Amino acid sequence: MADVLDQKKPILDIKNLYINYKAFGGLCYVINGLSLQVFPGEKIALVGESGCGKTTTVKSILRVLPRQARIPGGSILYNDQDILKMKKSQLNRVRKRELSMIFQDPTAALNPVFTVGYQLSDIIKYAEIVDKRDRNAVKRKAVQALKDCSMPDPERIMENYPFQLSGGMRQRVCIAMALATASNLMIADEPTTNLDVTIQDQVLKLIRELTEEKGMSLILITHSIGVARMMADRICVMYAGNIVENAKSKKILENPLHPYTIGLMDSIPKLTGDSIFSGIPGTLPSYQNPPPGCRFSDRCPHVHAPCIEKYPPSFDTGDGHMVACYLYDKEHLLLNKKGNSEQ
Ligand SMILES: Nc1ncnc2c1ncn2[C@@H]1O[C@H](COP(=O)(O)OP(=O)(O)OP(=O)(O)O)[C@@H](O)[C@H]1O
Ligand SMILES: [Mg+2]
Repeated sequence: MADVLDQKKPILDIKNLYINYKAFGGLCYVINGLSLQVFPGEKIALVGESGCGKTTTVKSILRVLPRQARIPGGSILYNDQDILKMKKSQLNRVRKRELSMIFQDPTAALNPVFTVGYQLSDIIKYAEIVDKRDRNAVKRKAVQALKDCSMPDPERIMENYPFQLSGGMRQRVCIAMALATASNLMIADEPTTNLDVTIQDQVLKLIRELTEEKGMSLILITHSIGVARMMADRICVMYAGNIVENAKSKKILENPLHPYTIGLMDSIPKLTGDSIFSGIPGTLPSYQNPPPGCRFSDRCPHVHAPCIEKYPPSFDTGDGHMVACYLYDKEHLLLNKKGNSEQ
């Protein structure tokens, strides 16, 4: 894999992002000062347990958050321009040609009353990739998009309604739609959750090959560390609205640092050994009344005073391996050592 981390300028730069939801009983403070950079051609996996805010984060990039969401702070720079401040026309231009998203549920993403061909052609016309009045050119492009996704007999598939396709085929149609238009960044939100294991593998390989061919960046959301390892140059581990650890995939897998990441790794069932995996005791904190300090503190085996007072910043432990945990705060460690030796 290309060592894309060495490239200087990110294509996407999310800075200190906060997102709240209006809910019964008050605001939910979900995304809590999240920062994330994606470099050209880089593949990133966003990993974390259910409800930690992965979908919320990526929906904010395309500005497709539900109505209850508010963004009180932060910026999302795409090629140096803040998506959150873009006018509708400018945002549409970016959505048409540059960014796209594959959703978790392909059945919900396709309209049941139109044929695949109609929906794919519609997107191609909307993105104005070919002259939209030239029906043959639009059709050729649509067929090509299906062929690129290894769809057998694309001409026939064009005439089919979504219900006439299998789950794996429907997801391929969604990938074809996303790839027909986007050229810079693909966001895939758990694209294989509803598919069986063999098809999962094929769909993931397809996403990887096609994004690599086009030199696109990828943000892949997944629950599975195994999928992250197979797909991504870099893994970002999310917990309760923040990225708690961010490093090259190999580094994070060989040497996880954050207590949450370590717990996550321990939760993977092993083939050797006779014990049932330990998992991480406890649950995500309440978003309506989140703790002021580290949001993992009440589940953390290493919790100590500063963790409860203030959210830890991200510490660079070398070679871009970032961890938001006071255990890796050099100053704090020095103070602790000094304190211990003075006692
Ligand atoms: N429309 C909404 N209104 C209120 N709260 C919401 C809304 N959408 C999401 N949330 C809350 O935001 C939090 C994060 O949700 P999100 O869907 O981003 O999590 P996720 O990491 O994608 O989870 P999963 O892995 O299950 O898809 C959850 O606690 C959820 O209840
Ligand atoms: Mg989600």
